[in-house]
Amino acid sequence: MPPLIELKDAGIRFTSGAGRKKNTIQALTGVNLAIDKGEIIAVVGESGCGKTTMGKLIVGIHKPTEGQVLYKGRDIWTLKGKDYHEYRMGVQMVHQDSYAALNPNKTIFQSLSLPLLQHNIVKNEAEAFEYLSGLLVDVGLTPPAIFLEKYPHQLSGGQRQRLLLARALSVRPELIVADEPVSMVDVSMRISLLSLMARMKEKYNVSFLYITHDLGTARYIAASGRIVVMYLGRMIEWNSIQKAIDCPMHPYFHALISAVPEADPKRRTEFARQLPLRSLDLPNLLNLPSGCKFHPRCPYYEEICAREEPKLHPLNGGYVACHRAEEILAQREKEKSGI
Ligand SMILES: Nc1ncnc2c1ncn2[C@@H]1O[C@H](COP(=O)(O)OP(=O)(O)OP(=O)(O)O)[C@@H](O)[C@H]1O
Ligand code: SF4
Ligand SMILES: [Mg+2]
Repeated sequence: MPPLIELKDAGIRFTSGAGRKKNTIQALTGVNLAIDKGEIIAVVGESGCGKTTMGKLIVGIHKPTEGQVLYKGRDIWTLKGKDYHEYRMGVQMVHQDSYAALNPNKTIFQSLSLPLLQHNIVKNEAEAFEYLSGLLVDVGLTPPAIFLEKYPHQLSGGQRQRLLLARALSVRPELIVADEPVSMVDVSMRISLLSLMARMKEKYNVSFLYITHDLGTARYIAASGRIVVMYLGRMIEWNSIQKAIDCPMHPYFHALISAVPEADPKRRTEFARQLPLRSLDLPNLLNLPSGCKFHPRCPYYEEICAREEPKLHPLNGGYVACHRAEEILAQREKEKSGI
């Protein structure tokens, strides 16, 4: 069985402006990733590293300028008729800005019932009302009849995010790309939304691609899943979340982990120790460094790093793109055993 979604050497270049002011940004480069049914994958990385762009490639908002996006083994840009419809329903996105994602002039019922009627998921408005009421109860918006009559501005940010999740679930998707779905709600609401997503994954067997710059929430939602670390449009590490956090392989990911305060001393790992970077500046996508894109900041930098871009290769149960990852891990083992 082919994976539900597969990115194959996928890349995207954005061009803006014209003439002398024309700019080309390579927002994603050579991304290879397979997502299986029922999986949760967290995608982490600094602002501008291409997380949203990757999500938009998967849901077909952007077309790759290199490589392919496959749905059950078939290029999404060649799908037609019934197959295209199956993909469009099967892969949904929940956006960060819940207010912008809902039509302010329509009630929740009007907004959510339309796709159900259009795609014959329900036969009429009465059925839509019943179907949506059930979903709203599932996502904790009760009593549903009251919420269905409201307009988006009459809901709190957390309630709107729950609603977007219900809307995505309403067309019975196989994968939900959730782009920073909790970043605009307060901390107490975050945990409740994240556990709601985990429950929905169990109940409906939906896969989630959870995009965030917050490692804490990534660890929470994808506790038994995988984590993908991005840097300047490239995948630089992936592994099971537990392994990745217990033993980060890429120096950038190590630095990212060490920057997260860990309140519970039992969970503090050796990586709580700060990794001093050579520079704190994030390079510009318009003027990328040669070789390894992390080399101007990396404390392990060697001459080869500026010359050759490292390839993603298997290590420690996952994959890493670093020339010195094996050496760094071996050194760490030595230090641990006190040699
Ligand atoms: N439609 C577009 N046209 C031109 N450039 C774009 C477009 N969309 C994204 N970019 C650029 O691509 C790069 C990656 O953007 P993206 O939104 O994917 O980053 P991100 O990792 O989601 O960041 P954030 O954490 O801030 O949301 C950025 O430099 C951005 O300016
Ligand atoms: S390839 Fe070199 S510069 Fe890049 S992360 Fe590894 S050691 Fe650092
Ligand atoms: Mg983004």
